[in-house]
Amino acid sequence: MSELLHQALLRYDGLPVAERFHVHARAFSAPLLALAARTPGGRVADIGCGHGLLTALLALADPRRAVHGVDPDPRKVAWARRALAGQPNVRIAEGTVEETLAREPPGGFDAAVVCDVLYLLPESKWPGFLSTVHGLLRPGGRLLLKEVEGDGSWKHRKALAQEWVMVSLLGRTKASGGMALKPRGSLTRYLEDAGFAVREVVDLGAGYTTPHVLYVAERRGA
Ligand SMILES: C[S@@+](CC[C@H](N)C(=O)[O-])C[C@H]1O[C@@H](n2cnc3c(N)ncnc32)[C@H](O)[C@@H]1O
Repeated sequence: MSELLHQALLRYDGLPVAERFHVHARAFSAPLLALAARTPGGRVADIGCGHGLLTALLALADPRRAVHGVDPDPRKVAWARRALAGQPNVRIAEGTVEETLAREPPGGFDAAVVCDVLYLLPESKWPGFLSTVHGLLRPGGRLLLKEVEGDGSWKHRKALAQEWVMVSLLGRTKASGGMALKPRGSLTRYLEDAGFAVREVVDLGAGYTTPHVLYVAERRGA
């Protein structure tokens, strides 16, 4: 295990076993280190931060980075705050991106990470969500959007079943009315329509049983 991931997981040692299990499962089932490695420095918003493991990786990797996590699930926000208490370059807020970060000065962030969150929103809300994120970034600011690809493969079907268990059966993931896994062409169009230039679409599924795809996009225009 990488030293960075080890240090981040140590933050969760004091949490109840169910929460620790959730965070460790997340660490080994999603390519969070690869995502963190592509995130620039400066002010970074982690939108839908959950327990805050990616927030922790971003903050520990670069102490000069200021990481602002937001999530609408009060339980996860409480665990994230507890795990990251005393980490000076982290703030965690409870709410959706519209409720919390919309109060921030427009263009105030150098980067935003949105990891496995968009699919939890109804597709009708994606344009508004992406435009809000676009407005938060400075021109040239980077969005790292990680989603599970809806490519019709067995990995896609397994991921859908797994999400159904987490959202509908166990209630461990708070959905906002959606459950849509899309092919990469469709997501690329949503990003372009919201004013992003898509710089890279990276396959991060190798070694995982989930078809992880990362979209690296930049805010176009002034
Ligand atoms: C699968 S978890 C991913 C958590 C974290 N990003 C990670 O990669 O470990 C999805 C998260 O999205 C959050 N979420 C759901 N609806 C949201 C919304 N409308 N705005 C922001 N976050 C939302 C959930 O509360 C949950 O913590």
